[in-house]
Amino acid sequence: MKAKKQVKLHLACGPNIVEGWQNIDILKGKDIININLTKPLPYKDKSVDAIFHEHFIEHLTKTEAESFLKECRRVLKPGSAMRIGWPDMNLLLKAYFLRSKKYRDYVLPALDDHRYGRNWDEIFSDCLFSWEHRYAYTAKHLKLVLETAGFKNVKVMKRGDSDQDIALDFRNDPATTYIEVTR
Ligand SMILES: C[S@@+](CC[C@H](N)C(=O)[O-])C[C@H]1O[C@@H](n2cnc3c(N)ncnc32)[C@H](O)[C@@H]1O
Repeated sequence: MKAKKQVKLHLACGPNIVEGWQNIDILKGKDIININLTKPLPYKDKSVDAIFHEHFIEHLTKTEAESFLKECRRVLKPGSAMRIGWPDMNLLLKAYFLRSKKYRDYVLPALDDHRYGRNWDEIFSDCLFSWEHRYAYTAKHLKLVLETAGFKNVKVMKRGDSDQDIALDFRNDPATTYIEVTR
């Protein structure tokens, strides 16, 4: 008998298309399924084998993120996993206080509005509010939000490291943290 194909969702994928995953974004593009992730997910309860999203949760308001995570949990099969990567506010704060050259060199090319001389205070605010960011999380905060949404086994992971073989991890950003959870 033929094995049933796994349903794996790569949400808010941007240009990063992964074979074997449903690559989903609000923007249209080749091999992208168009879904607005602020709406209920068009998948049945407990029908999805894995979810990955990276640098998306901070684009949602606090309330939108709660609904979105609830939807992710609803569609995941019991025991199945979700991995989240996001710009960790704790790491951004550390970079700010340490005046991290590594982070400054990484982020400056992505920030095109340096009207106050590229000083660290301007960079810090720009990192929080540019790119249509709506909210910010430390790992401790996001862990709490995920546990409140009903997820289990909430675990901070190293880039590329996964208990569930779902580390798509496109970002090479010194301030990105990854968390894995199960339903
Ligand atoms: C910062 S980009 C991250 C893209 C990719 N995951 C990465 O890390 O390079 C955020 C992505 O979220 C998508 N996005 C924003 N709001 C969305 C929504 N309501 N529904 C679906 N996708 C959305 C954007 O189109 C964009 O591709």
